[in-house]
Amino acid sequence: MYTPETEKEQFEKIRTLLYPNADAACKELAQEIKTLIEIRRAEGKKAVLGLATGSTPTRLYRELIRLHKEEGLSFKDVITFNLDEYYGLAPDHPESYHRFMREQLFDHIDIPAENTNVPSGTVRRKDVFSWCQDYENKIDESGGLDLQILGIGRTGHIGFNEPGSGKESLTRLVNLDSLTRLDAARDFLGMENVPRHAITMGVGSIMKARKVVLMAWGEGKAGVIAKAVEETPVESLPASFLQGHPDVRFIVDQAAGSELTRIKFPWLVGAMEWDPRSIRKAINWLSTKSTKPILKLLDEDYNEQGLGDLLTSSGPAYTLNITAFNDVQHTLTGWPGGKPNADDTHRPERAEPHPKRVLILAPEPQDAVLGMGGTIHRLVDQGHEVALAYLTSGNLAVPDSDAIKATELILDMANATEDADNVVVNKARDVRKELLKKGDQSTDSKNVRHIKAHIRRGEARAACQECDLTSDHILFLDLPFYENGRYRQFNLTDADTDAVTQLLQEIKPHQVYITGNQADPSSVQALGFETVRRSLVNCSEEDWLQGCFVWLYRSHGREWDIHEIDMAVPLSPDELARKTKGIYQHQTQRNQAPMSRHSGGEAWQQAEAADHHLANRYDSLGMAEYEAIEGFRRLEINNQL
Ligand code: F6R
Repeated sequence: MYTPETEKEQFEKIRTLLYPNADAACKELAQEIKTLIEIRRAEGKKAVLGLATGSTPTRLYRELIRLHKEEGLSFKDVITFNLDEYYGLAPDHPESYHRFMREQLFDHIDIPAENTNVPSGTVRRKDVFSWCQDYENKIDESGGLDLQILGIGRTGHIGFNEPGSGKESLTRLVNLDSLTRLDAARDFLGMENVPRHAITMGVGSIMKARKVVLMAWGEGKAGVIAKAVEETPVESLPASFLQGHPDVRFIVDQAAGSELTRIKFPWLVGAMEWDPRSIRKAINWLSTKSTKPILKLLDEDYNEQGLGDLLTSSGPAYTLNITAFNDVQHTLTGWPGGKPNADDTHRPERAEPHPKRVLILAPEPQDAVLGMGGTIHRLVDQGHEVALAYLTSGNLAVPDSDAIKATELILDMANATEDADNVVVNKARDVRKELLKKGDQSTDSKNVRHIKAHIRRGEARAACQECDLTSDHILFLDLPFYENGRYRQFNLTDADTDAVTQLLQEIKPHQVYITGNQADPSSVQALGFETVRRSLVNCSEEDWLQGCFVWLYRSHGREWDIHEIDMAVPLSPDELARKTKGIYQHQTQRNQAPMSRHSGGEAWQQAEAADHHLANRYDSLGMAEYEAIEGFRRLEINNQL
């Protein structure tokens, strides 16, 4: 049983290491694997690795490939066993884990094909049981796993051991949880295409490994990580069984570690060095916990909930309450671009200059309206020069059926006007033919991706109209990392940063809005954010940047906590309805709301629920009661880029 080393980690039952980012963690883990392979080789043995698929290990695999290519690390005497495979997928299916492993690792290193093992997705149903027993035996016969690499699903699954999986379960056929299928909907272009079953190694098979390392990146994993590490092991959260493993560690980035008690409620696990933000955080928490508005909190409330030292250092409650109340109150503004001719001492944005040049950046087309549709409308309405730049076309997320519909529209118009032989019509005809015979085994050609991009442009323009933003204020950057890539295979290059840097230099904005800073690092949102971050760094010598506020908005994933918000823009019921209509224009995305921002439903329902929820949170702290609120956090250019 793990004994925490510091007071701060007192609730943690698994050794958990927080890294500044996924790359730093993967570099270290890759070195550990290298050492393991070398030690095994010196002993005349083969290293046996348990491998995972999904977004999480891709950076680790990239680093292992680098070690092979640049530092001569050989995998000739390595044996691998993969955790799982979708049942029903052939090894060449674009989403099969066989193909994933070839593309992400095996094809780039010198591992002999016969040393790699991935569960079969095509074994006949009647043979599954004995096939699984053989897989288990093969692991044992190879000497057992030296190291098992894991990711974690939002259900708490490891491998595909969904809630309900027993501690001693072995390799077997399982049903996939609906949340897991929802998370995979993006890759399969719709939840209906995601397989319902998988073959997976069991929790017991994983527990037999001599060492286990679980990786997690991005805010989407924060909740499940905290539960697995701090709560009592239960079948409803299979990863929590790892608490019983003698040599396990979790390696996580800051976002995935953000729900651990030591990060989220640090005052509960040791002495604090209080600063204004942590005071605001603690008092908001206290207000929620004791279900009282801030101004009604008493000294007793502080003492009873473990905030006695805050009371001693900065109390009494009356003083603390007033300061915290004002702090939160000052985040609220109906003037996201600043209120002209007003005293702006306590406003989140400066009054001058007015109007401001505002640049809104959307990693995927729907992000901007999801996260800040109401605020865009306000900025336009209040006379600012707003430009909205879509970083990527989002064409990978368009279902084939929508593209076929679009080609049919073009062909129909061509027939009606007897103009059946021009470049556009011929292209539409080719694309239609290609899509109809595509099947589910191949990826989209350039032509198909073009037409899909046009569909998304049309949707984006329609959404902007709901925000009163006209087409001449919209830019489509089609960044190369996305246009030349596929999910999990995106690589940022200078061409991406150059395009955004040039745009920043042209506009010289007073405000930049961007999202994705806490997202899974392989997601389009995170890569979009990283491109913008690098571009801002490129401009660090330029004068205009010193007068530029960078605002982070939320489009996916968890909501802001109130203490994280620096600007809260209330929306009236009418404004919220307009925003909803705007989101609705992204019609091809309607069945594909992957990372629910709030619980369940389509994207517009989730966004509405989240904005209502934020307004309710402000209300319950004792602020005015609004219909909905969009929250923003300011990124300090000088020390947070
Ligand atoms: C994959 C696997 C799964 C994933 C988990 C997280 O082989 O076994 O448990 O590790 O679903 O997926 P990503 O990494 O895509 O977030």
